[in-house]
Order: sequence, then structure tokens, then C-alpha cells
Amino acid sequence: GRVRNYKFNVVMKNKTRLCSSKPIVTVNGRFPGPTLYAREDDTVLVKVTNHVKYNVTIHWHGVRQLRTGWADGPAYITQCPIQPGQSYVYNFTITGQRGTLLWHAHILWLRATLHGAIVILPKRGVPYPFPKPHKEVVVVLGEWWKSDTEAVINQAIKSGLAPNVSDAHTINGHPGPLSSCPSQGGFTLPVESGKKYMLRIINAALNEELFFKIAGHQLTIVEVDATYVKPFKTNTIVIAPGQTTNALISADQSSGKYLVAASPFMDSPIAVDNKTATATLHYSGTLAATSTTLTKTPPQNATAVANNFINSLRSLNSKRYPAKVPLTVDHNLLFTVGLGVNPCPSCKAGNGSRVVASMNNVTFVMPTTALLQAHFFNISGVFTTDFPSNPPTTFNYTGSPPSNLQTTSGTKVYRLRYNSTVQLVLQDTGIIAPENHPIHLHGFNFFAVGKGLGNYNPKVDQKNFNLVDPVERNTIGVPSGGWVAIRFRADNPGVWFMHCHLEIHTTWGLKMAFLVDNGKGPNQSLLPPPSDLPKC
Ligand code: C2O
Repeated sequence: GRVRNYKFNVVMKNKTRLCSSKPIVTVNGRFPGPTLYAREDDTVLVKVTNHVKYNVTIHWHGVRQLRTGWADGPAYITQCPIQPGQSYVYNFTITGQRGTLLWHAHILWLRATLHGAIVILPKRGVPYPFPKPHKEVVVVLGEWWKSDTEAVINQAIKSGLAPNVSDAHTINGHPGPLSSCPSQGGFTLPVESGKKYMLRIINAALNEELFFKIAGHQLTIVEVDATYVKPFKTNTIVIAPGQTTNALISADQSSGKYLVAASPFMDSPIAVDNKTATATLHYSGTLAATSTTLTKTPPQNATAVANNFINSLRSLNSKRYPAKVPLTVDHNLLFTVGLGVNPCPSCKAGNGSRVVASMNNVTFVMPTTALLQAHFFNISGVFTTDFPSNPPTTFNYTGSPPSNLQTTSGTKVYRLRYNSTVQLVLQDTGIIAPENHPIHLHGFNFFAVGKGLGNYNPKVDQKNFNLVDPVERNTIGVPSGGWVAIRFRADNPGVWFMHCHLEIHTTWGLKMAFLVDNGKGPNQSLLPPPSDLPKC
């Protein structure tokens, strides 16, 4: 592969959306940020220079970072943040991956505006396993906040309550022609009749899972999270924060304008946010004044539509791209994920209590020294290795909730031997509000081998696991009131964050980390840190 050099200058920039302007944190003045292009096997060097008042880190979401955890990016997990005026070069090689991923800030709530696409092309001369599209278009879905997102989260932490929702969803940075500010227009996707296009769709929103649809056009899904899937046709995509989906469309109409729409999917009955972002698919030769063919995304609580999409996903599992599902299990883990309530005498608005989130009733406490540094340099007192392999009391979804509400706090990691295999069942507790939790694992792809509603029952459910062609990805929705089972091989030494990709849940503590030991063979150890690694 070749070396690709990028310069990411983190700067404030005024942007106008919803008919009003405000300064936002950007990379190189752009929102969404620049697309990072590379080929499989390339080495990528991104020099990030921080010109804003906040501490910054950037995460290359879904890039495996084999032995290069120092370039992964989550603040206080793999690195100390880049302080104002400082810079750091993220240096990583893309191995065994091609497809669409995203980069985003991994500190505070800065990823609200600090995000962009990663496009990894196959090695030179290697075709896609589907017909080559005429053109490829990046479609970044996001959110727009009229207020400062750091103020939104600080207010939520202080009160102990849920934060305000965003003021608009966005498609490539724009709320679109049907927003409260239609004069600002929106993103236009130009097409020529008779041609095929590939959309590289990314959900970069902070807190919303989204439906995505185009009027009058079917979508053929060919890839998710930079892994090829068995192609299937659908009218509607569901995509969680952190997930990516490649879809082919045929411009099979002769002319006209067609609405592109994205709106929230939320099976939580208490949260209401139905704002739709829109854009326009525009056939060349069609006058701008022509009216647009409309479409409606499913209602917010259309769980069946979401499940239909999710259950259609299968690994391509071809000769060239086999699904390497671990068939034996060294670590059999069950983690509950969910929200709880803890006492908080200073939380006035929350009536003396505050919302917390946890895995196995452990609310993760961010350290002040990066875990990866503590691990590599043997600094004691930063973390403990006693993250539980199972919940403290047997979880029963239908039983009485109290024992599941209280959490303990700690910076606990779960330790894995190099190359051991892991089966992890993620069980949603749905105590306060049943909600889908998109769980993201850093450093690995995993296979989603099983899924169900209610309590996971090992005796029955394990028999039904798909160990042949389960979808492979890096972010998976734990269904509301149900569970998913994933499998992966711990072949990447280092410290790897795992958390809910709804940013508010991460803030509340729905996160933990795996520590993977070095192997004994050559090329099986974590590389030493680069000399410019930021200091805390
Ligand atoms: Cu996309 Cu830890 O994040």
C-alpha cells in the first residue's frame, strides 16, 4: 500500500442552519468534515492540530487498528487528549478491510459536529463483489443543535436528567427543503437516468437511530460496517449511530425529483422526536422548478420495519470473503446493558437522584490516565481487571426490577488472552425505558450470531445461533427488551473500549473496556507508543 497524508485542523467556523448562524467546532472549517480516502493496505497519517479551546481526540470508527491502539482515539482509553495548541499524528495501516466507515471526535460531545466519512477502496485491481456503480456518493446523517452541545450535556449532567434533543436531523449537513427553514434548501443528489449509484450512508448523529428512504427507488444493500453482505432489496434502511450502510440504487425513472428522507427510529415510548431531514434526488435534465415526488419514512416506533431490515443482514460469506465465525468459545460472557437511577443529593431537578447507565451494574468511571498507557507502562492504580463476566444477580426481564437498578462505579476492564475466542450476550434491561442500545466495540469486528426478545436462555437460544453467515459488524443494536449474542476472536492486543453509541448513554456510564494481552509470537504484541503521543 501507499502512504496517505492528511491534515485535520480543528477550528471554529460559523455555519448557518435553520436560518440562524453559530460558531461550531469543525475539521478544516467543514461540516460534515472531509472524507478520508484510502485503499486496503494503505498507511494513513493524519496530523490533527487543535486550534479550539476544548481538548480533542479523533477516533477512526471501525478501523481495526491491529497493534496500533495508540491511534484509536477514545480519550483516556487509548490516549490523553490533544490539548489546545497541540497536535498529534494518528498513524495506522488499514489491514483486511474495505468499505465505508466514519471518523469522529471521541471526547465530550464534540462529535456532534466533528465527524466525517472514511472510504476504504479495495486493493488496486480487486473488484467489488457487485456491479461497479457509475458513481459513489457519501451520505452523512447527523443532527443540528441551535444551542452549544457542550452546554446541553453539561446541563444534563448537572440536573441528573435527560438532555434536550437536537433541533433538526441533517443529510450531508443540511436539515433540507422540508425543514423549518426551507429557503436554505438542502443536499442534492444528481443522477442520470439509466445509471447505477452507490450511496455510502453513515449515521453520525449523537443520539438517534434513523430510518432512511428515497421516494420511488429501491435500495440494494451490499455492505454494512465495511463488511460485504448478501445483497438484498429494501425500501427502508435502519441505521444506528456509528453504523454504516452501502446501498446501490438504479436511476430507473426517466426524470424528476425525488425526496430523500431520514427520521428517528426509537422504540422507547417516552422519547418523542419525529423530525425528518430531507434531501433531493434530482435527474439531470429535470427543471429545478419541477415538483418533488414525496415519501414518508416509517413512524418513530415502527419496530417491525427495523427488525425486517436487521434480520435480512447476512455476511456475504463467499470464497473470497468467508465469514470466519469462531466455532468454539473460550470466554462465555453475559453483560446486561441499561439505565438505572442512583442517589444524587446535589441533583435538584432530578429530585435527589440521577440517571446512570451501566453494563453488569458497573457504571464506568473515566480514568485520568489513559488505560492503554497504564497497561503498557505498568502504571498501577488506574484500572482493575475485575469487570464481571456475568451480572451480579441473575437478570430476569420479567422479574422485579429493584436489584437491577443500583450500580457500583469503577474503572474495570475484562482481560482476554491473545487469540482467545469470546461469546458475549448483551442483554437489555429496559428498566427505566426500553430502548435499543447500539453497542460499539473498538478494535474488532464481531459476528452477530443470535438475537431474541425477553431473557436470554443459554440452553434454548444457543442452539439457534447462526454460525454460518451471520452479519459481521462493529456496532450492533441490542433490541429493546431483548438480547443479541456476538462472537469475536481477541487477535488484537491492547485496550479496547466498548460502549453504547447513543452519546448520552456513554456519558451516563454505559461503557467498559477489554484488555487483550500480547501474544507470544512475532507480530503479536502492541507496538510501542509514538513519540508525540499527548500527555495528560
Ligand atoms: Cu464511534 Cu467509541 O466510538
